[in-house]
Amino acid sequence: MNLEPFRIAVLISGRGSNLQALIAAQREGRLGGEIVLVASNRRAAAGLLRAEEAGIDTLTLDPGAYSDRASYDSALFARVAEAHPHLIVLAGFMRILDPASIAPWIGRMINVHPSLLPRYPGLRTHQRALEAGDRLHGASVHFVTAELDGGPVIAQAEIAVRTDDTPEALAERLLPREHKLLVASVRALAQGRVRLHAGGVQLDGMPLTAPLQLASDGELRERNQTVRE
Ligand code: GRF
Repeated sequence: MNLEPFRIAVLISGRGSNLQALIAAQREGRLGGEIVLVASNRRAAAGLLRAEEAGIDTLTLDPGAYSDRASYDSALFARVAEAHPHLIVLAGFMRILDPASIAPWIGRMINVHPSLLPRYPGLRTHQRALEAGDRLHGASVHFVTAELDGGPVIAQAEIAVRTDDTPEALAERLLPREHKLLVASVRALAQGRVRLHAGGVQLDGMPLTAPLQLASDGELRERNQTVRE
C-alpha cells in the first residue's frame, strides 16, 4: 500500500473560492491528497487567508520584484518545486505563464477555467457566451500547456443558459459546479485514474474521446454515461 500522500500545490491570485472547495474536500477526506502549499502573485489575495486558517503553508511572490515574466516564473516554480508537489492546481491564478517554466510540469499541472473549452479561452467568458447566444455554458479543468487555456481538457461541468441571464447570474450559478468539478478532477488525478499520455487524456489507461462530465452526484462520468440534472 502506498502511504505517501498525494501532494498538491495550489496557485491563486484572488478570492480563492476554488481553493476553499479543495480545502473542504481535503478536510472531509474527499480529495485524495493533501494541499501542501498555496502560492500567490498577490499579497492581498483573500485565498491566502483561507489557506492560513486551514494551517497550510503559503508563499507570496511579487512579480514587481522581477525584471520579466521568465525570471518571475522561474523563481515561482523553483519555490513551488521545493514543496515537492505531485500536482500543481491553478485555481484562479490570473497570469500567463512562461513556456519554459511550464515544460517540466506538463501532465502534472491543471487549471480550472470558466467556459466550455475550446470556447472562450481568456477573460470575460460569461459575457462572451451570452453574446454568442450559447444555450450551454460551463467550466473546464484542463492540463496546462504553453497555449493559454489550451491544454487537453480533462472534465467539464455544464449549465443551461437562461434567456434572462446576465454575466453575473451565469457566473454565480456556475461557481458551485466549478468547485465540484475541480474537486472531482483533482481526486481522479490523485487516484491515478486520469493522466496525460501522448498529448491526450487517459482515463484508467484508455484514451478519452471527449472530456469527462460532472454528474449531479459530483462524480465524473464519460459523456454517454452522464446523469443529467
Ligand atoms: C474562477 O472562475 C476560475 O475559473 C477562474 O478564476 C475564478 C477564480 O475564482 N480561473 P476563485 O479565486 O477560485 O474564487
